[in-house]
Amino acid sequence: MRIAVFADVHGNLEALTAVLQDMATRAPERVLFLGDAVGYGPDPNACVEKIFEVADTVVAGNHDHGALELTSTAHFNPFAQGAILWTQNVLTGENRERLLSMPMTAREGELFLVHATPERPEAWAYLLYEEEARRQLKFFEEKACLYGHTHRSLGFVGDGNNVRLTTERLLTFQDQFRYIVNVGSVGQPRDSDPDAAYCLYDTREKVLSFHRVPYNYRITQEKMRAAGLPAFLIQRLQVGV
Ligand SMILES: [Fe+2]
Repeated sequence: MRIAVFADVHGNLEALTAVLQDMATRAPERVLFLGDAVGYGPDPNACVEKIFEVADTVVAGNHDHGALELTSTAHFNPFAQGAILWTQNVLTGENRERLLSMPMTAREGELFLVHATPERPEAWAYLLYEEEARRQLKFFEEKACLYGHTHRSLGFVGDGNNVRLTTERLLTFQDQFRYIVNVGSVGQPRDSDPDAAYCLYDTREKVLSFHRVPYNYRITQEKMRAAGLPAFLIQRLQVGV
């Protein structure tokens, strides 16, 4: 079975559309979304609707909770705070209900799904380094944890004592290892590549692959300008940082 996994769309409809088109050519049997449907981008409603149309399983992100005022946005930078206030104002009641229905974690066979970290999903901590990844292995039982939040596609390979970071684009799951994989961001990548990111996992082959899809971010930027969203958020889409 092929499973497609994506995260951190952040109201970027052009990036989401490009990813879903690319995904469709690979005909996944299951589609999983790891949170942050909204925040930053100009199309929160259309993105929430599209995500709920295509995803079989979803988990909540900090911007989804921020838009619902379920979590404090004190840890957001000023640009993110500006964008979340804008999002709160435009989000429809129906889409607020959809965001409200998202659980904090989910399981899909041998995969544990969370937006930030398995240890305390609601703390919204950033998992970027090997030492932290080694600790996080204790907080889920599945073969692999798939997550988002940092907007950087990468993987950690661990045997319990040692963990190494990998940026290989193809990971074949080995019996003796467990994995923590960041699937990257659809709508606001921050790993110096502006192309939208997602992952595919083949449960039979036990192969996880990282994918990047170019999209026309100039259209998104134009919409953001028209909406009066912060210039820094507009600028970062074209450089992927
Ligand atoms: Fe995010």
